Amino acid sequence: MTKSILEACAARGHEQVAFFSYPDVGLKAIVAIHDTTLGPALGGCRMRLYPSEALAIEDVMRLAEGMTYKSALAGLPLGGGKAILMADPELIEGREQLFKKFGECLNALAGRYISAEDMGTSVRDIMWVKETSSFVVGTDTKNGGAGDPSPWTALGVFQAMRAAVAQLHGGERSLKGKRVAVQGVGHVGMHLVELLAKEGALITVSDPHEETLRLASSKYGAAVVPVDAIYDVPCDIFSPCAIGQTINTNSIPRLSCSIVAGAANNQLPDSSVYRLLESKNIIYCPDFAINSGGVICVSVEVAGGGLGVPWIQKHVEGIFDTTTKVLEESKRRGRFAEEVAIELAKERIAASKSRKRP
Ligand SMILES: NC(=O)c1ccc[n+]([C@@H]2O[C@H](COP(=O)([O-])OP(=O)(O)OC[C@H]3O[C@@H](n4cnc5c(N)ncnc54)[C@H](O)[C@@H]3O)[C@@H](O)[C@H]2O)c1
Repeated sequence: MTKSILEACAARGHEQVAFFSYPDVGLKAIVAIHDTTLGPALGGCRMRLYPSEALAIEDVMRLAEGMTYKSALAGLPLGGGKAILMADPELIEGREQLFKKFGECLNALAGRYISAEDMGTSVRDIMWVKETSSFVVGTDTKNGGAGDPSPWTALGVFQAMRAAVAQLHGGERSLKGKRVAVQGVGHVGMHLVELLAKEGALITVSDPHEETLRLASSKYGAAVVPVDAIYDVPCDIFSPCAIGQTINTNSIPRLSCSIVAGAANNQLPDSSVYRLLESKNIIYCPDFAINSGGVICVSVEVAGGGLGVPWIQKHVEGIFDTTTKVLEESKRRGRFAEEVAIELAKERIAASKSRKRP
């Protein structure tokens, strides 16, 4: 990061970046609150060792901003935030104390930021946070939580795929017979493969884990290719469901698909690849517009009683319409889908701001 933190906040619209240091329990945390116009900033807590503090700040700010756009596009009364715990995600000794202390840090933010699981953290960690703070969601169903968000994330991505296919095929949204390459068959990827198999899609998967590959192949009839070979699979839809930034200057020339739609966050390294995707006539479904099933699911914990599975189902299925809107507006405005999705999110936030003005 070349700018100072306050300069970076001003440039990207962040309201607050908070640092917490409690060496006695090994806690070094950064919380980024991007925008709370629509509601409290909700986003996961990532536990990871970073090569430098600057990279951690850069990451947490980028992720928090993404959460703002994700929740705004999903129509949720939530803003965007994210937390990073700079620690080894495999930590065992002292883990409980660290997460309980993190709960106290959340209390200091007085509900402006609500945390949840993310990379490197689990429901068990979140339950420890819950012991010291109420500003956390993603708790298990036994404790009144909304449960595993991954099936909902997968359903949202599935709906986005149907919407993108409908754009290409004059409204015909079926994925039957469509060739889909799924990169990563973890929590979300495997649920997605299940939905695709039920629909009659022709699935190819890659993942470094042999066991998950065997399951995808034996249970859902997916073809399996080595990790790097997935980019060369001729397909209708390429679906990144593993890690970020896999749609880049090296992989795009190898893709032979007409749609990219997946669950992974930050699939593109930056806007420099927009033209490359356009030059290949690839429809890109912006990740934050289509992977909001998980945040829709955990948002019911913020909303409190009354909202249940039917509400989640309806909202996640609404990702079909959100995707259609983004793709149609992209055509109408003549700009890349990701740019337009950010604009639509900002428009919702601006409309809310102007309603609040006296
Ligand atoms: N879980 C959710 O509800 C949710 C919500 C929004 C976004 N996401 C994003 O979706 C992605 C998947 O989430 P998840 O919960 O399924 O994670 P996960 O860790 O359960 O699954 C990821 C899978 O990708 C595999 N993988 C790692 N590197 C790979 C590579 N180079 N090629 C192919 N496979 C590779 C892993 O072995 C693993 O099986 C992540 O980027 C996550 O941030 C998840």
